[in-house]
Amino acid sequence: MRSSLPDFPWDALAPYGDKARAHPGGIIDLSAGTPVDPTPEFIQAALREASNSPSYPLTAGTPELRSAIITWAKSRIGATGDFDVLPVIGSKELVAWLPTILESKKILIPEIAYPTYHVGALIAEAESVPVEIDAKSWPSADLAWMNSPSNPTGRVHSVEEIKDCISWSRANNSVLISDECYFEFDHTAVSTSVMALTAGDNTNILAVHSLSKRSSMAGYRAAFMVGDSSLIAKIRELRKHAGMMVSLPVQKAMTVALKDDSHVAEQRGRYNTRRETLRPALEACGFRIEFSNAGLYIWCTRDEDAWISVDWLAQRGILATPGSFYGDKGKNHIRIALTATDAAIDQAVTRLKA
Ligand SMILES: Cc1ncc(COP(=O)(O)O)c(C=O)c1O
Repeated sequence: MRSSLPDFPWDALAPYGDKARAHPGGIIDLSAGTPVDPTPEFIQAALREASNSPSYPLTAGTPELRSAIITWAKSRIGATGDFDVLPVIGSKELVAWLPTILESKKILIPEIAYPTYHVGALIAEAESVPVEIDAKSWPSADLAWMNSPSNPTGRVHSVEEIKDCISWSRANNSVLISDECYFEFDHTAVSTSVMALTAGDNTNILAVHSLSKRSSMAGYRAAFMVGDSSLIAKIRELRKHAGMMVSLPVQKAMTVALKDDSHVAEQRGRYNTRRETLRPALEACGFRIEFSNAGLYIWCTRDEDAWISVDWLAQRGILATPGSFYGDKGKNHIRIALTATDAAIDQAVTRLKA
């Protein structure tokens, strides 16, 4: 099975990184969506204060963290009815291992998507089936992923589209997992959580959230799920055996991070300013921007092979990601991450104008 794992796609980008690095002004890396803005000081302080940590942490999370997640889920994403929560070691870990934990055999993934959905299916030796956003067209399966706002497109699902996903889950008695890790970064569209649309019946429904981007905590590895209590109980039980617990200092840092919205609003502002700074410069160079209404990325095309666009930008010292990393349908698009400093984004604009 593991021999069937794809080559790590980022290796193919390395030569373009070298080309961009050779630019006299150095590289402006807009490829990986890895946050660069500092983790807010109060979150760092909570981690430091919890550094004396001799005992094992709870897989289920401390009562304080559980309560912070529950309060956040009710107030921020509109969760209702009976639901449970579970901290995880970053959402990538969950995406990669959940199909194995749930013993899924057939998994639907968005046709343009974060590659780890497919990798998770491979690890579970399951079949993965790329599907359109419209769930009315979905075949039956054990599990389906949806992702809004999307990586890489920045597209936001409409309420109707999410309701159709829920209807698919109910009609097939299948698990629907909504990856909402960019939920906090609205711009020209407002995101709705799957948890707000279940009318309190959360059977087979999970939402996944992450503090990596929300609170610039990617290095901490901090995420959580919210949803169907019996499903989460099953997942928690297996994780207890498998040792997949979030470290206690990170749990403390998550707790304070979730109780504060102001740093998130600041970060949202930063990303949206960067998007608006880059947008006209890319358009002036012939790129057509599609979706990109929320989240962390600009998704654009010049109707040419993605690698030609990547190469053109690399000559200017700017590194972008080819859309082909996210599925065949992305082969003429590139993804530009807004995870660079304001100064780097301004510099990219200057280079594009030149
Ligand atoms: C759609 C999506 N889901 C999950 C993740 C994983 O994020 P993390 O493991 O940092 O929570 C990413 C990271 O880029 C992502 O783009």
